[in-house]
Amino acid sequence: MRMYDIIKKKRDGGELSTEEIGFFIRGVTEGTIPDYQISALCMAIWFRGMNMRETCDLTFAVRDSGEKFTASEVQGIRVDKHSTGGVGDKTSLVVAPIVASFGVKVAKMSGRGLGHTGGTVDKLEAITGFRTTLSDEEFLRQVNEIGLAIVGQSRQFAPADKKLYALRDVTATVDSMPLIASSIMGKKLAADDDCIVLDVKTGSGSFMKTAEESRTLARLMVEIGKNAGKKMVACITNMDMPLGNAIGNALEVQEAVETLRGRGPADLTAVCLMLAGRMLSLAGMGTPAECEALSRRAIEDGSALGKLKEMVAAQGGDVGLIEDPSRFPRAKCSYEVFSPAAGYIAHTDTEAYGLASLALGAGRNTAEDVIDHSAGIILAKKTGDFVQKGEKIATFYAASRDLFAAAEERFLSATQLSREKPEEKPLVYDIIE
Ligand code: URA
Repeated sequence: MRMYDIIKKKRDGGELSTEEIGFFIRGVTEGTIPDYQISALCMAIWFRGMNMRETCDLTFAVRDSGEKFTASEVQGIRVDKHSTGGVGDKTSLVVAPIVASFGVKVAKMSGRGLGHTGGTVDKLEAITGFRTTLSDEEFLRQVNEIGLAIVGQSRQFAPADKKLYALRDVTATVDSMPLIASSIMGKKLAADDDCIVLDVKTGSGSFMKTAEESRTLARLMVEIGKNAGKKMVACITNMDMPLGNAIGNALEVQEAVETLRGRGPADLTAVCLMLAGRMLSLAGMGTPAECEALSRRAIEDGSALGKLKEMVAAQGGDVGLIEDPSRFPRAKCSYEVFSPAAGYIAHTDTEAYGLASLALGAGRNTAEDVIDHSAGIILAKKTGDFVQKGEKIATFYAASRDLFAAAEERFLSATQLSREKPEEKPLVYDIIE
């Protein structure tokens, strides 16, 4: 088999066989195919697309390119939730303890933030002492004993994706449905959960800017998961504004704890209850509506917060911070941002909000950057709110006052004011089952 022929076939609109896709991914993993041929095939796929069979073959080859988790060692049903990435998205910190409080196992391998999006592992590391790296034995023991563990991805999951993604990133081939779906699902399937709830974000803070694009991606991923024998649901949720009011790691953990106490922002609470309800329902606990009601009860009776504390204690974190979030280390400097004019907040460029938070030290531009866990933004106003000229719209937190000017400029230019009250967009656009 020759890579040249595979590229030519796809370039001319042909359908790649299972063997050709397997040959390609093996060559990517083993380093026997040069970068220019990998990139050329990605570009051919970008233009020509792939049918469902090809996309599944690509996903399964990516999944099989490295280590896998052996779910059989976990007693009980394992459910996972995956978000395609957004700003202020701390749902995993709320949803995972809710679900685990019902005895459904959540053994979660999460990522770090990059660019404008945050990552669950960074948020958890804002809790003093919390260990996001556990040995396989520790991880399995914790999941079997308390039903919940969240760690970073230490295993060599789907190494072909790492190589492919790095090349797609520099050859303008990220935004291809089969390439995105196989990248996300290849990694998810390597973790071998029984049920997966996908939170596909849509809007200005997401890499899918329209609900229709998000639906297409969601349908594709649900179909791939079903082909792999998984129970799947995808929820299309709003990322046209940050979820909740906090952006930045320690600030988001505090907001997640408040949500588990029943005092969280309405949008965050609603999305968390919906996702937890869907996870419990896939695990066989009842209808989505019944499971959403169960999730609400787990917040009201404190069992979900109790489960978060158990996980934090088991992973070496300071449980006192969860009991009293005001004890989280504070950023050295804070700065209030005031509205330059009166009007409704009509639209926010949420990606730019994420980048403003990054500029304050809360995120990273490259995987090597060190982040400041106490940095970030608390929004006082969000899309749809009316603001007076000079009224506070946000508070910034950072280690140095020097960081505020650039972040403020980015933030204010991302905040559109209007005399008209904007039409309210749904929090949940669609559920793909
Ligand atoms: N996230 C991934 O993991 N892969 C993609 O291709 C896009 C987003």
